[in-house]
Amino acid sequence: MVLTQSLKHGSILHDFLCALPKCEHHIHIEGTLDPELLFTLAERNSVQLPLDDPAFESSTALKARYSVFENLDDFLHYYFIGFSVLLTEADFEALTYAYLERAHAQNVHHLEVFFDPQVHMERGISYSTVMSGLSAAKARAAAELPDLSVMFIPCLVRHLPIPSALNMLAEVVAAGHFEDGTVAGFGMSSTEKNMHPTMFTSVYDSAREAGVRNLTAHFGEEGPAEYVSSAITHLGVGRIDHGRRAAEDPALLDHLAKNSIMLTLCPISNVALRGIAEIEQLPIREFLERGVRFSLNSDDPAYFGGHVLDCYCAVQDAFNLSVGEWETIAKGAIDGSWCSSERKQQLSLKVDEAVRRQRMMIPM
Ligand code: HPA
Ligand code: ZN
Repeated sequence: MVLTQSLKHGSILHDFLCALPKCEHHIHIEGTLDPELLFTLAERNSVQLPLDDPAFESSTALKARYSVFENLDDFLHYYFIGFSVLLTEADFEALTYAYLERAHAQNVHHLEVFFDPQVHMERGISYSTVMSGLSAAKARAAAELPDLSVMFIPCLVRHLPIPSALNMLAEVVAAGHFEDGTVAGFGMSSTEKNMHPTMFTSVYDSAREAGVRNLTAHFGEEGPAEYVSSAITHLGVGRIDHGRRAAEDPALLDHLAKNSIMLTLCPISNVALRGIAEIEQLPIREFLERGVRFSLNSDDPAYFGGHVLDCYCAVQDAFNLSVGEWETIAKGAIDGSWCSSERKQQLSLKVDEAVRRQRMMIPM
């Protein structure tokens, strides 16, 4: 990956970042569908890709188109076309397992994975088909990928009507999947412009009434800091996905720090979708200095060309962080996870060990 080769300061810490036990909380499983697999599945499942867009002439052309996204909505157009090739439980299982394996190879030890059941349901693929595929991949990972904890988070999508979101939520509740841990919480994604959080209070109220405790939402990716504060106030979320624009409001930063509300930052995604021109523009130092907890995540790696380790290396390249600062980031990501306190303790000891080894090698 080019990013790791272009490290300005960070190559000395590259091995450390690779070994550092990582948590990933912001990865859309449908965003791991790379162009080659998209074409393979389209052929296998006899799905006609758009004929009127030259990007779909070949996987190479599609990859080239992915490198020039103009903004979030431009990306989402292609992202949702990708959904059309996923039809069977086996498709979802294969896609999910491939990602779990890849993340595991980068020393990710805890994963919280988004998926968009509402969009699949609207195109005639049942919630149970999707969820069974994801769960089968998790079961296989439990047998084959040591010490990886995996959770799933269904997201409502903002571009579809509220009744469709309520319908999806009702289906997950009826399946008993919040209660039995098949899914770990509830989130919200898709287009953000003109999507004020208060438009979605009925869905989040319903989730809370159904006993869902872990709530999150994508805000502050393109939208203003006010969307972030409003999501906290009106939707009752305890986590914000992206949230980079929260830095525009110092009082909000204090609130995030005081209430341990984690931001799941996605540095490579932000550059790919032109929210920022370069990673140096992410407010990483402000977040660290003000005690705002955050994790680093790949978002949609098949579309943005960077996996989780690339995100860590790119941040190191941009900010030249110390081992101690990485320890703070890694511990914050553990504390902000939705796993048990016992699991957090295990993960924390792993981070201690990686830091100890690094300090033994290069005291700092
Ligand atoms: N933002 C909003 N919706 C999304 C994203 C994102 O980064 N990725 C997949 N759906
Ligand atoms: Zn996202």
